Amino acid sequence: MTEQITALVTGANRGLGRQFAAELVARGAKVYAGARKPEAVDLPGVIPVQLDITDPESVRRAAEVAGDVTVLVNNAGVSTRAGLLTGTIDDIRLEMDTHYFGTLNVSREFVPIIEKNGGGAVLNVLSVLAWYHPPSSGAYSAAKAAAWALTDALRAELAPRGIHVSALHVGYMDTDMVSYIPADQKIDPAVVAKVALDGLLAGQPEILADDLTRQVKAGLSTANS
Ligand SMILES: NC(=O)c1ccc[n+]([C@@H]2O[C@H](COP(=O)([O-])OP(=O)(O)OC[C@H]3O[C@@H](n4cnc5c(N)ncnc54)[C@H](OP(=O)(O)O)[C@@H]3O)[C@@H](O)[C@H]2O)c1
Repeated sequence: MTEQITALVTGANRGLGRQFAAELVARGAKVYAGARKPEAVDLPGVIPVQLDITDPESVRRAAEVAGDVTVLVNNAGVSTRAGLLTGTIDDIRLEMDTHYFGTLNVSREFVPIIEKNGGGAVLNVLSVLAWYHPPSSGAYSAAKAAAWALTDALRAELAPRGIHVSALHVGYMDTDMVSYIPADQKIDPAVVAKVALDGLLAGQPEILADDLTRQVKAGLSTANS
């Protein structure tokens, strides 16, 4: 993709989403910064848009505002740290509502827009935990695994329609989501945003952002789960 990019980033008010928005602006893109509270968007050069990815009406309204989008970054996410047996069903549902149904809601609304605008790309932010499923993150892992399957199916469905779909898989990043993890175990989300956008624009189907993720992916063919 070398033409002018108009991007929508979900969850762009903080964390990795804010870094995606900043990197896209630095590359000359027009950027809609989707956020549940658009007043929380503090990044210069972006257009804040109210967007709760779990609320179909909010997604529909955002699509009315951002009708010129060619690149969608499905970044918004939550981590309740709910286990499948010990967590609350509300938390387990929130994970699936956000990572799976939320990503699906936004994709269903914006794919026709990207297609109408001549094609483009979708980047789904997944995780190493789509492939590695410790009980302590059972709800999150299941939701990211569902989003991985969604990503693969959409990639095949949209390739003939001029829309490339990439998955970003990554381990711990230094954001609010994992503030409880020691700093030396986390990578810089600004670097991840750069690597992911390079991969997306190069047409990579999967972007593996760190060594842990590459090791886990390599072990999938021998794993028993
Ligand atoms: N941090 C990590 O180690 C890590 C590792 C692998 C993958 N990831 C993934 O990376 C993505 C970004 O996470 P992060 O680390 O940047 O986390 P973060 O700092 O906690 O930010 C999460 C962002 O998602 C937004 N969000 C949550 N639910 C939303 C909803 N229903 N509608 C719209 N926005 C919503 C949040 O908005 P509010 O401010 O309104 O809450 C916030 O902007 C997520 O998909 C996450 O699963 C993170």
